[in-house]
Amino acid sequence: MSTSAQLRAALANVLAEDGTLTDPAWRGAAEAVPRELFVGPYFAQVPDSVPTRYRPVHRGEDGWLEGIYTDRTLITQLDGRTRADDIDGDSTVVGSPTSSSTLPSLVLRMWQQLEVEAGHRVLEVGTGTGYSTALGAHRLGGDRLTSIEYDPEVGRAAAAALTAAGYAPRLVVGDGLRGDPDGGAYDRLIATCSVRYVPTAWLHQVKPGGKILVTLSGWSYASGLALLTVTGPGTATGRFLPGYTSFMIARPHDRPPRPSLALLPGEERPSLIDPAVIGTWTGDWVAQLAAPAAERMGAGPEQILWDVSTGSQARTAPGPEGGWTVVQRGPVRLWDRVEAAIRLWQAAGEPHQEGFGVTASAGGQRVWIGGEDGPGWDLPV
Ligand SMILES: C[S@@+](CC[C@H](N)C(=O)[O-])C[C@H]1O[C@@H](n2cnc3c(N)ncnc32)[C@H](O)[C@@H]1O
Repeated sequence: MSTSAQLRAALANVLAEDGTLTDPAWRGAAEAVPRELFVGPYFAQVPDSVPTRYRPVHRGEDGWLEGIYTDRTLITQLDGRTRADDIDGDSTVVGSPTSSSTLPSLVLRMWQQLEVEAGHRVLEVGTGTGYSTALGAHRLGGDRLTSIEYDPEVGRAAAAALTAAGYAPRLVVGDGLRGDPDGGAYDRLIATCSVRYVPTAWLHQVKPGGKILVTLSGWSYASGLALLTVTGPGTATGRFLPGYTSFMIARPHDRPPRPSLALLPGEERPSLIDPAVIGTWTGDWVAQLAAPAAERMGAGPEQILWDVSTGSQARTAPGPEGGWTVVQRGPVRLWDRVEAAIRLWQAAGEPHQEGFGVTASAGGQRVWIGGEDGPGWDLPV
């Protein structure tokens, strides 16, 4: 059986060989931080279960340590309360993940993308298990790093794990979307939960010239990782990065609960686009930009959009003689908006998100294609 140090070194090797770990200082952090102190028991998905079921993997059981050193996100809390230790070994549960230890390759890639330098003051939003915080503290020193966690119990567990691992960053329990309650001229901000728009506090607490690395997402849970440079107090601009990054949405930005879905009659017409396009990574993202209050369900040509704030609906289907139809009802013509956005994106050559950027100012926040003067959509600030 391999020891933790051996498994750590093996994972760091894999991540260096596949090009994830390019900076020796971050490789040192990956080799030093014992992830098992931060994760403890976790949930594993039961293969092919619908709805998804989870089984607990308890500390010390067969495969537990090996699981911790695979490059996977490990879910540590369901529904804001259930931890793996609350569940018997043979039982399985259904729930929505609310806290996790992000996969090591993503955390390490993000720390590198943030372009952190020795001496920088960094604010992290979403301490979670504390694993990414420990990597940051190893590289920067605890006195340069503040991390904010929303959930008091998660925050307490992270604090204990960080102490056990020998790191002492400043930890805050609270809503990280409000920034550091003590204010702060930060050089860098990294968020490991996603947001619908860049919180105003961040735009004031990061110094001009400083950077914000954050995943923007929304109520269809489509997302993209953006690196913004703060251009002045309250303003920032930047581009989305290559890849496919998603994080659970920050709790205050999450979709409000909705009644159970009832599909109602409405106006029918042919769809001008193949609805399956909004089931692709970037198509979903464009649809969400066009209809930011909508939740997307369905698959392939049979898509359903439900506007959480107005109850408006759109649903698509294959047409009886080829093509596709859409039925819309309610005050917001969701499909009209999505169709127009998808056609703009298609006219621009259907770029992946790295062809998009975002600009935030006191006047609002806008995601654009190509450049700031390109086609774009306002975020629901
Ligand atoms: C994906 S986990 C973080 C993973 C963590 N960085 C790690 O390496 O283990 C996201 C965390 O963000 C926290 N969170 C959600 N909304 C938040 C908010 N508004 N402020 C601070 N933390 C928040 C969640 O409670 C959760 O623990």
